[in-house]
Amino acid sequence: MIILAIETSCDETAVAVTRNGREVLSSEIFSQADMHALYGGVVPEIASRNHVATIGKLTELALKNAGITKRDIDAIAVTYAPGLIGALLVGVNFAKGLALALDVPLIPVHHIRGHIAANYIAFPELEPPFLCLIVSGGSSLISDVRSYTDICIIGRSRDDAAGECFDKAARVLGLGYPGGSALDQLAVSGDEAKFSLPRPVIDGHPYDMSFSGLKTAVVNIVHNSGQKDEPLDKASLAASFAVAVSDILVPRVMSAAKQFNHNKIAIAGGVAANSRIRADLVNAAKEHNMTLYIPPLNLCGDNAAMIGCQGYYEYLAGRRAAMDLNAFATMDVDCDCVRI
Ligand code: KG4
Repeated sequence: MIILAIETSCDETAVAVTRNGREVLSSEIFSQADMHALYGGVVPEIASRNHVATIGKLTELALKNAGITKRDIDAIAVTYAPGLIGALLVGVNFAKGLALALDVPLIPVHHIRGHIAANYIAFPELEPPFLCLIVSGGSSLISDVRSYTDICIIGRSRDDAAGECFDKAARVLGLGYPGGSALDQLAVSGDEAKFSLPRPVIDGHPYDMSFSGLKTAVVNIVHNSGQKDEPLDKASLAASFAVAVSDILVPRVMSAAKQFNHNKIAIAGGVAANSRIRADLVNAAKEHNMTLYIPPLNLCGDNAAMIGCQGYYEYLAGRRAAMDLNAFATMDVDCDCVRI
């Protein structure tokens, strides 16, 4: 089954062609990051307008690189939530137009389910159930992936997402936007023990997380040194920050895996590219005798191949959208789950 997949939830316009879920025939991504860097963050209207300008050409390119024509498409999958509403609407309406014109099914895909599915592309042997840590610019979740379409959140950030926190810390350190990757590189040469940063716990909710206090602590350290005109060891602050984020995430993931009887752990989302978090997860998984799945960097960030892959499993589960499909800025990845 050939699926044309569309992803426009934030500042990447992405179109991919997948076959039977896990085989990627083409995956095209147009990142607008440079356009938003000027403003220090994503400007929603600029994102929407660039999706409008790019999506048609990118679809032609995805078809050409997959070696197929529009007639070969069996279904259209599209990200419909969560994300920037104007940006999502561009992809949803484009997908509707295509599905209507080609008379093929339209499959709605939750963005975070797509991130989880990036692991199915990277690891052909991986099948649910497993535990998944999702850390992206907009979400920080620990989820129990019971089946391809039954996903239960067992822990989440109560405030900022991990990626948001990386981006804010990077911004005050003068590393530009989006700064997660630059902060990661800077941290390599720093002393991770130099700054003492908070690792909050949420009483009674062992798998929930909080990142806003950590973000504020970094901002205060940078502002204090500026006000006192003292030199700041930015590399060590970056290293102390990265290890604090990792300390918030990794032990929770390990104890959730144990409590929910998983010996397979996957990670997903842009922050999964972080070298410190990856290294700590590798060590912890080894120590606890668990199999760890970490997708390659090109599948960690936003892409449409992951939407095509998840779209296939949503299709098999019977999900179809009608022409009144709407986009939603927020939506939980699970529908019927009891939180801890
Ligand atoms: O998954 P993603 O591409 O977008 C969303 O769906 O939100 O994630 C983007 C986030 C940004 O916050 C970016 O700074 C962060 O992933 N990121 C990183 C690294 N590479 C990207 N954060 C930490 N270390 C990295 N190496």
